[in-house]
Amino acid sequence: MIEAPLLEVSGLTKHFPIRGGIIQQRVGAVRAVNDVSFAIRKGEVFGLAGESGSGKSTIARMVVGLYRPTAGTVHFDGSDVSGLIGGRDYRKQVQMVFQNPGSSLNPRRTIAQSVAVPLIFHDYPKAKIADRVAELLEMVELPRNFAIRYPHELSGGQKQRVAIARALAVEPRLIVLDEPTSALDVSVQAKIIDLLAGLAGELGLTFLFISHDLSLMRNFCSRVGILYLGRLAETGSTIDVFGSPAHPYTQALIGAVPVVSDEEAALKPSIPALSGEIPSPSRIPKGCSFHTRCPFAFEPCRQIDPEFTIVGQGHEARCHLLEERTATAATVPVSPVERSAHP
Ligand SMILES: Nc1ncnc2c1ncn2[C@@H]1O[C@H](COP(=O)(O)OP(=O)(O)O)[C@@H](O)[C@H]1O
Ligand SMILES: [Mg+2]
Repeated sequence: MIEAPLLEVSGLTKHFPIRGGIIQQRVGAVRAVNDVSFAIRKGEVFGLAGESGSGKSTIARMVVGLYRPTAGTVHFDGSDVSGLIGGRDYRKQVQMVFQNPGSSLNPRRTIAQSVAVPLIFHDYPKAKIADRVAELLEMVELPRNFAIRYPHELSGGQKQRVAIARALAVEPRLIVLDEPTSALDVSVQAKIIDLLAGLAGELGLTFLFISHDLSLMRNFCSRVGILYLGRLAETGSTIDVFGSPAHPYTQALIGAVPVVSDEEAALKPSIPALSGEIPSPSRIPKGCSFHTRCPFAFEPCRQIDPEFTIVGQGHEARCHLLEERTATAATVPVSPVERSAHP
């Protein structure tokens, strides 16, 4: 029997109404997330990448039960949790780490008090709390005496370690990391990713890792999804998506990642950098939502929103160019000359 995924989101959609006029009637909608589907197996690190405003945090909030989806479902370990806003048992199994470590810690609480919050909420035996906090600080490689310190005495990276310790406290099965390192210095970012990768291996955790930084994703995630205007443009294994990106948007994003060597530069796809601003999710372009910025856009792109085309095992992308290519490959017979050239 094939094991069911730990998390499965299907057709996930979130539209925020825009109100206006004297009686605040609905005048439009921010289509923040549109028909997003993906699954994460136990022990896997799934990365969700996209520019600012592409709907990453809104997806995270629906997954952890802070927002109710407009449409679509979230299944956790086989059960539908889409309506479980604030469900106590679900909150124990799924934790979230936010972008800004400063604002997620109460400045008037010691580190020990902050880490103990979820333990107290979930009725952890009082007598064991101090030991558990010490153990958690050790797991995130902070000195024990940090327990009695206050957030203002800690660096950004140390605060984020505390936030990770707090997320680990009640032994969740899934941790949603919403840009956990984007407020930190580059050197600190790498250390936090190393810590998370170590914890994932040690504790068999499952992560949904959200970032706009593809270079971090490459080292940490086993599979990735690329979001554009609240819709998945491409999904696949990290190796496939980074090694042979199929969607022009993914190609442009990967083309923009800085490289350290000439060899790497030679392997980069030669694609023009993205021009123009990302459109507003309250005015998503008709057809393929990427066509206004796509260097390869042709007529169908302006009219028809492309479905996913399978480009490899577990690797798919939404692009009319790929449909054309697979259709051609399927219908045009290989000529004898080509056959002998490719034995
Ligand atoms: N509570 C909300 N009410 C109205 N619009 C929202 C709300 N939350 C997010 N949005 C809008 O939804 C879009 C996606 O936002 P978000 O999910 O935060 O993107 P990201 O995390 O990728 O930067 C943005 O246009 C944002 O302004
Ligand atoms: Mg965000």
